[in-house]
Amino acid sequence: MAKTYIFLGPPGAGKGTQAQRLVEEKGFVQISTGDILREAVKKGTELGKKAKEYMEAGKLVPDDIIIGIIKEKLKELEGKDIILDGFPRTIPQAEALDKMLPEVGRKLDGVILFDVPDEEVIKRLSGRRVDPKTGKVYHIIFNPPPPEIEVIQRDDDKEEVIRKRLEVYHSQTAPLIEYYKKQNKLQVIDATRSPDEVYTELLSVLK
Ligand code: AP5
Repeated sequence: MAKTYIFLGPPGAGKGTQAQRLVEEKGFVQISTGDILREAVKKGTELGKKAKEYMEAGKLVPDDIIIGIIKEKLKELEGKDIILDGFPRTIPQAEALDKMLPEVGRKLDGVILFDVPDEEVIKRLSGRRVDPKTGKVYHIIFNPPPPEIEVIQRDDDKEEVIRKRLEVYHSQTAPLIEYYKKQNKLQVIDATRSPDEVYTELLSVLK
């Protein structure tokens, strides 16, 4: 059966960075709800118009919209090993996923919590830069982009929005830690270490 993992953790924990590496080196497919929504905002689609104001304010997009996106993606990606990066983010999303997975012939193999304190999140996100062409993520100090690449800063990486996203994480997403602990699915990684060290531990957890 194709593998299904969830990457859980506060904004800036390194979920996207680690998922990209698993995609490049291990053939996983990353489903990032954040990337899907940003793309929709950029293109000005109906979805993008609905999501824009929530994202700019650092709030969560309504559950029914997100659950609909994931349902579609799961159908498209039948038979592929996947990482759900940034989904689920609320208890109703997690409950919807529990129902959806058996319907598409999957089970949840594990939930990886990338554990990072709030101060580190603020440092990481205020220095994050993205290559708009490839979506590759850099950091001005920890992982500087090559000089020939013109990188941009995400709209929600301003300090006041980062603080709001952290608040939303603690109130709405952190309850999932207990939820998956009870299902015996949770694995915690100390994500304050270097990206290489985090990746090495991630590989051992995925085995
Ligand atoms: P989303 O895009 O999912 O944002 P997020 O969860 O806040 O996560 P980030 O992408 O900010 O962080 P990351 O953990 O991927 O860190 P990264 O690897 O980039 O969501 C955005 C918005 O979309 C939400 O606010 C919401 O509005 C909406 N949304 C999305 N999903 C939703 C859902 N399910 N329900 C409702 N709404 C939803 O790393 C961060 C930085 O740190 C980078 O610069 C990187 O280079 C650096 N870095 C990474 N690892 C390390 C390390 N080990 N050491 C030092 N630096 C590191």
